[in-house]
Order: sequence, then C-alpha cells, then structure tokens
Amino acid sequence: MELERKNPEVEKIKILVVGSGAREHALAWKLAQSSRAGQVYAAPGNPGLDIMTKLAPIRADDIEALTDFAKREEIGLTVIGPEAPLALGLADRLEAAGLAVFGPKAAAARLESSKPFAKEFMLRHNIPTAAYRSFDSSAEALAYLGRKPDEPIVVKAAGLAQGKGVTVAQNRAEAEAAVREAMDDGRFGEAGRQVIIEDYIDGEEVTILAFCDGRSIVPMPPVQDHKRLGEGDTGPNTGGMGAYSPVAVYTPELAKIVEESIIQPTLKGLLADGLDYRGCLYFGLMLPTADSPYQGPQVIEYNARFGDPEAEVLMPLLESDLVEIMLLCAEGRLAGHPIIWRDETSVCVVIASGGYPGCYQTGLVITEDVPSMVGASMAFHAGTDLNDSRETITAGGRVMTVAAKEGTLEKALFLVYDRVRAIHFKDAYYRRDIAHRELARHYR
Ligand code: AMP
Ligand code: GLY
Repeated sequence: MELERKNPEVEKIKILVVGSGAREHALAWKLAQSSRAGQVYAAPGNPGLDIMTKLAPIRADDIEALTDFAKREEIGLTVIGPEAPLALGLADRLEAAGLAVFGPKAAAARLESSKPFAKEFMLRHNIPTAAYRSFDSSAEALAYLGRKPDEPIVVKAAGLAQGKGVTVAQNRAEAEAAVREAMDDGRFGEAGRQVIIEDYIDGEEVTILAFCDGRSIVPMPPVQDHKRLGEGDTGPNTGGMGAYSPVAVYTPELAKIVEESIIQPTLKGLLADGLDYRGCLYFGLMLPTADSPYQGPQVIEYNARFGDPEAEVLMPLLESDLVEIMLLCAEGRLAGHPIIWRDETSVCVVIASGGYPGCYQTGLVITEDVPSMVGASMAFHAGTDLNDSRETITAGGRVMTVAAKEGTLEKALFLVYDRVRAIHFKDAYYRRDIAHRELARHYR
C-alpha cells in the first residue's frame, strides 16, 4: 500500500526579469538557481539571457505589454532591473493586478528619477549630503556659478539621463558649459530643463545596496564601482567599468555609522513620507577625505534598483535563495530572515565598445577563445545581439561584464582578466586596473 504523503517539492513559480543588461543577466542567473524557480522569462533580454531563460520580445519601457504578459503568464515574481520601467510605474501596475513584484512603485522610485526630490528628501530627514541649489532657468544657474569660487563643482540634470546627466566640473567654465548643454541645448531633453548644482566632495566612493520590504532594510556587502572610463580614474563618467566586493575601507565601524546616519534615517524617512519601498535601494556613498569640509559618509545619490555592474559582483557572492528574498521583500516579510553571503572576494570587468561613452560601432562579431580557467568565471551579456548567421555581435556601449569570485582579490583578478583576454571584438576596450585602490591597500 502506498502511503499518502505531501509533495516534498516546493511550489515553483514563473519569474519575469525586466531588462536586457549584464545586471539582468546576473540576476536571472541567480534566480534560476533557486528551487522555487519555474520558467524564467526575460523581457526583452539578450543572447546571454536567451541561453538560460525564455525571451519575451517586449521593451523594458512598454508598461502596458509587460503588465499584460505578466497577467497572462501568471508570473509569480517580476524583477524590474532598470530605472525607466520603475519611473513609469510598472510596479504599480503589477501590484494593482495582484502580482508579486520586486521593485518600488513610481512614487518611491522618484528617489532616483528626480534629483530635486531626492535632495529634498535628504534635507527633510537629516541625511548627510552635499549642499546644493536647484534651478529651472539657465540665467539663474549661471549667475549662481558666477558667485561661487572657480573650483570643482557638480552639475546634475534633474531627471533620468541614462547615467550621463552628472558633470563633475573641474572649474567654472566646465560647469557653465554643462548648464548650457542641459538647459539651453536640451542635451537630456526634459530631464535637463531643471538642474541642481552641488558642492564637489573629494573622497572615495562606495556603493551600498540594500534589500528593502517597506518596513525593514538589510544592506548587502559593500561594492566599489569604477565610474570613469580611463585607468587611474580618469576620463569621462560611464555607467561603470568594473567593480569588486567587499571593500576593506568600509570597515564594520564605518558600516555602523552608515547604518545609523544614512540607512535607518532613509527607511524612517520613507515611512514618514508614506512611501512603501519594496525592492533594492542603492546608496551611492562618498567617504570624504580627511581635509574635506564634509565629515562622515555622505549620500551622493540614491538609485531605485540594483547597480550595474554592482549586481554582477554581488550575485556570485550571494549564498541565500534570491527568489525567497525577493518574495519576502514583495510581501513585506523580510524581517528575521538571515541573508547569507559567501566569505570570498568578487570582481567584475566591463568590456565596452571602443569609443564608449561617446560614439561607437555596433554589429562587430564577438569571438571567444577557451580561457585557461574554464568555468571559474561568468560572462554576463549586456549590449550583444545575434546576426543572421547566429554569431554574437556587439549592440551597445557596454558589451559584456565578466565576473569571478575567489578566496582572495588577487586570485579573483587573475581569473577575471584571464577570461576578459579570451573575449575578442574589434576595438574592444576594458580597464586593466579594476580594484586598484584595494590592491594599493594590500601592498601599502
Ligand atoms: P551618477 O551618474 O548620479 O551616478 O553620478 C556620477 C558620479 O559623479 C558619481 O558616481 C560620482 O563619482 C560623481 N559625483 C556626483 N556627485 C558628486 C559630488 N557631490 N561630489 C563628487 N563627486 C560627485
Ligand atoms: N553602477 C552605477 C549605477 O548602476 O548607477
């Protein structure tokens, strides 16, 4: 006689990852490892995601079609990667349809989509950040610059500008040019009709991402991105050229200060303002130099999503089940659930098209030799596509992010660059000095 017994299998759910970058590839890779993961979809995805998910040919900003797809397919968890669908209210639409979603609603995503909103939020809740003024006329902005000393100063487009809206001006002339470009020439469209001008803070940057369920917030290990295009942190700002985690300068003592002066006050502020934040909250922090007029960690920016390439270094370090964590966030039940991270070092390097972040060629065939350390690294796709012969080709500025983790930073760097050197396309560019600050600390 067969004993009647409960199905030992956990209930599997369908998962939808919205976006098409290396961040989404890394998130989908981790989500797919979960025992809860049924079919994983990516919309619109990329050839890397095509291997591990089913692609849904829907643009990440087509809120209507994404909502219809999630309803029709009975998606059990939608993970929103980029900022555009968040700002357009995709989370609002999915939640209204009774579907679980990881990513804040539009009102809370304004922490990223409106810099004046984020600055006012920080002022209101006493969160340390650079002093600023906000302008909607270029004449007033230029007059203000004329009254400031001819020193480094930061000009930011108020709205979303695909990571290109910030100019760290070295002097007044550069700041004036940035104001004119944004406000008079319409370089960022509506997003730049208003700008904020803020104090330049000299120091070292660290990114802290945190899981948030609306009531509690759990920070992830610290990450350091490399925003500048060139080695030695020179040249123009980019979306990010590589990252590593953990970051030694972010000591437990510093983590405690950030928790008390930034993370908890942010959560309290969200609650006080009636903003129900469920998703990943990104704190871009500056640790000012000893001689800076600013003392203690400062918030440079909030983002309403995982960082890219920050996600690509963190996902390989996460030991806990990402589907479980994201469902707990969506359902407001995160408190009391430990999130476990591997005690290893993770590094990633972005391979970009030559010319990025300016003009670059696309459609170049990407080939890959077998790296000597097969299997120890991951190549997350970003700007890639397939041509008619089904060869992988370049299709964007940041083309791929290669990530590896190991017991030490040196070993992780060895693995990551071994793989990077095996990937070829015409004019491929990558920084050879990712984690240089951390290495300098090791050999000081
Ligand atoms: P974002 O595009 O908003 O990520 O900002 C781009 C980069 O500009 C930041 O990562 C910093 O490197 C730099 N930045 C922004 N605000 C400041 C500031 N107040 N002081 C110094 N650097 C800044
Ligand atoms: N890596 C910076 C960002 O995602 O905004």
